[in-house]
Amino acid sequence: MPAGAGFGTFYDLGAGPNWRRSRCALPGPGCGPGEVMRVMADRVGKTGRVVGLDIDGNLGREGLSVLHGIGYTQCSFVEGDLQSLEKNESNRFDLVYGRLVVEHMDDPIDGLKQMYRWVKPGGHLVIQDHYHPSLDADPASEVVDEVKRTFAAVWKKVGREPRTGIRLPGHFISAGIGAPDGTDVAGDLLPMRQSAAMGAAVYRSLLPLALKFGITTEERSQYFFQMASEAQDDENSYVLWPLIISVWKRKPDSE
Ligand SMILES: C[S@@+](CC[C@H](N)C(=O)[O-])C[C@H]1O[C@@H](n2cnc3c(N)ncnc32)[C@H](O)[C@@H]1O
Repeated sequence: MPAGAGFGTFYDLGAGPNWRRSRCALPGPGCGPGEVMRVMADRVGKTGRVVGLDIDGNLGREGLSVLHGIGYTQCSFVEGDLQSLEKNESNRFDLVYGRLVVEHMDDPIDGLKQMYRWVKPGGHLVIQDHYHPSLDADPASEVVDEVKRTFAAVWKKVGREPRTGIRLPGHFISAGIGAPDGTDVAGDLLPMRQSAAMGAAVYRSLLPLALKFGITTEERSQYFFQMASEAQDDENSYVLWPLIISVWKRKPDSE
């Protein structure tokens, strides 16, 4: 996903210095040096608090160390599985924000219930996830078709839902959170010369599982990387990346 996509909704919701204690359900380290936490820390200011949670402790600690190194000392990190953390409500936040995490959960409804528990009365839950089927190119591109085919096959094998973004409102309702107060759709339409390397990186991350499940072969993957390299000189095509769908809900003042 292009870096930074989807933060518009977060800003539009007015997250700012009045949001003193914030928790992001997932920190950015999964996709860079703590980008999600950094954005939240900018919004809550020096006297606010941002707590990142990720199942991958090494990634989270590395991201936190980068953030502390550049002065974001209001950030902290907790290693844990969102779905198996103790289900108590003692530690609650003005904002619980999960970007690109629900699509990785074994049980999205249970994960959303957990995240909503952490929202203070009057606070907000903001969730953003991809709608992967929108990946497309014009003119049509073998590179994009192969990324899309491989991605869909691997996600099917591992039991993940490529349509999670569009399912979020229904998931909110099933989780007892209620219909979202708002939704937003954001996306990127980028030149192939910029997209080809990103597509190759996505493909590379899928490759171990694609080989294991017999979805591709070493030979076919070599051909893919050659096509992706040549596509970097393509001046004509544009790629529509998976859309990012945001949904949010304000928790009533009294429960
Ligand atoms: C695609 S990354 C998104 C990272 C960040 N939220 C962002 O938008 O840049 C997904 C992250 O979710 C984490 N993750 C997946 N399942 C989790 C779970 N059950 N509990 C906590 N973290 C989880 C992964 O370790 C990974 O860092």
